[in-house]
Amino acid sequence: MPKRAAPPQPPVLRDRLVRAVRREARRLMAAGRGSHGFDHVERVLALALRLGAASGADGRVLALAALLHDIGRAEEDASGGAICHAAAGAAGAREILLRLGADERLAARVADCVRRHRFRGAARPVSLEAKLLFDADKLDSLGAVGVGRAFLFAGEVGARLHNSAAAARRARDYGPGDTAHREWLVKLRHIPGRLLTPAGRRMAADRAAFAASFFERFDEEAAGKR
Ligand SMILES: [Fe+2]
Ligand SMILES: [Fe+2]
Repeated sequence: MPKRAAPPQPPVLRDRLVRAVRREARRLMAAGRGSHGFDHVERVLALALRLGAASGADGRVLALAALLHDIGRAEEDASGGAICHAAAGAAGAREILLRLGADERLAARVADCVRRHRFRGAARPVSLEAKLLFDADKLDSLGAVGVGRAFLFAGEVGARLHNSAAAARRARDYGPGDTAHREWLVKLRHIPGRLLTPAGRRMAADRAAFAASFFERFDEEAAGKR
């Protein structure tokens, strides 16, 4: 069978610094949990570049920020949540970039995106690149991928497969009731209204509609109605 050509890569991914940072981020996140590991980073990278394609954003800043945005995860997990992974990640990103040859200005722009990417963070995105990273990161929690990640996360914390909306409302974080359905009800379904760019909001509406219909059907099947 003839070999199928690989899909064309955005030119920024051939950049020397971007390639070096991609290797470094992959290494740093190798031990990460499935729901927040390097696969998530690669999807966020692709989404960010897609959202930013026609926006006039600096693709190099955006790619570097997407690759480094969650490098502080391990530190946050190890501290039991006391350390904010966005703040720790911003400091780590600056250090890595300077070590790999970036100048101060580039390192500062990327670190700023990383510091402001968190959904519940106090530091809100200001630059276009920071807004695009924020949107790309949240989009990965919606749609078919988002549903899959919600179940993966529930598995990681030992939660049940499903609970009713009423039971989900009473459940606690990281307990058996912290199901994918609960994640959808209390957090994910509110994401589309929080996104910051028109392209991000359009994609979020489509992905949220898919996730909503999935959980509606799941609820019916779980109740034996279908
Ligand atoms: Fe994050
Ligand atoms: Fe993320």
